[in-house]
Amino acid sequence: MANESPSLLFYCRPGFEKDCAAEIMARSSAESLPGYVRARHGDGWLQFHGADSGVVEELSDGLDLRDLVFPRQWLLASAEPIPLPRRDRVQPVLEALENAGRIGPYAALCLDHPDTNCGKQVSALTRRLRKPLEKGLASAGISSNATSAPRRLHLFFSDFDQVFPAEGLVGRSSPEANGILRLRQSRGAPSRSGLKLDEAIRLMLPSDVQDTLLRPAAMAVDLGAAPGGWSWQLVRRHIRVTAVDNGPIQPELLDSGLVEHRREDGFRYRPPSPVDLLVCDMVERPVRVSDLVAHWLAQGWCRAVIFNLKLPMKQRHQTVRDCLARLPTGPAWHTVCRHLYHDRDEVTVAVFPAGATLREATLG
Ligand SMILES: C[S@@+](CC[C@H](N)C(=O)[O-])C[C@H]1O[C@@H](n2cnc3c(N)ncnc32)[C@H](O)[C@@H]1O
Repeated sequence: MANESPSLLFYCRPGFEKDCAAEIMARSSAESLPGYVRARHGDGWLQFHGADSGVVEELSDGLDLRDLVFPRQWLLASAEPIPLPRRDRVQPVLEALENAGRIGPYAALCLDHPDTNCGKQVSALTRRLRKPLEKGLASAGISSNATSAPRRLHLFFSDFDQVFPAEGLVGRSSPEANGILRLRQSRGAPSRSGLKLDEAIRLMLPSDVQDTLLRPAAMAVDLGAAPGGWSWQLVRRHIRVTAVDNGPIQPELLDSGLVEHRREDGFRYRPPSPVDLLVCDMVERPVRVSDLVAHWLAQGWCRAVIFNLKLPMKQRHQTVRDCLARLPTGPAWHTVCRHLYHDRDEVTVAVFPAGATLREATLG
């Protein structure tokens, strides 16, 4: 970004702006890079401004979406939006890019909007603007499809009347439109809840961890399994599952022959022999779930875990910090915690072995 003092732009689930802001401010203060956040409840986005010039660039140096919990996306953005007159919304954008010295080349052009009702209406506008913007960028000599370029050009339409030009780093920010990985529920799946595990596997586990832990015939335990959405995600990857829950499991899932249903208390269940993966979606106090998972890892009952922490309405950021502090740390383990698109008042955590050969989960 040239010729102007940028801000950091974050997208999040509407209603989680305060948690996102608390996370960013904790980071800014831990790195002694002071600044402030502008956020409004329900908007689904917020901005961090540095107290001094250089703060935003320094803070962005170490930012990687995989290390953040509540943001779905982070971008280096103009501090102020460009007003969009209704008669012509293309030319002002092109002029602003030129004035800011944003000449690319870019790996992609992303036209984003908030994940709100207003944002959904704005998406009709962004669809209409794509072609003229692409044409205008090409005429201005700004490439927006240079596959090996290190940045993407994002235009964030916070509403119909203004846009924030922004840049996202390939590999450290989300390649998905609006930072959302949309997954379609497969026919026959027992619950929508399974999409959480599918998203977690795709976004949080590096590909070689997936290859090792989620190979056919691997063994898993699913605590709080009913009606079976998470187990179903494992079974479709040909993994054998012990599904622990007093509630009923979908009969078709049991017919797969890969699921053993145990009507037991998930806090008391012990596997007869170590398994590859523990997953847990029990509705319980987050601290209690974290301690249980930490115990499984410490005892060597599983090689990795993916679990959900159901969050209280207040102090969600602090609750997540407290829970993560109870998990094993050190060079042997890698922990990722994300507020996924398919999560609601909860976050998903993955803990897996950190080996020298493990590649990072690919953000694209
Ligand atoms: C959110 S639902 C799980 C949904 C499931 N992951 C799916 O995809 O279909 C939470 C489940 O946790 C179970 N549960 C809560 N406390 C439990 C406990 N102590 N032991 C076993 N299951 C428990 C409930 O019976 C309920 O079925």
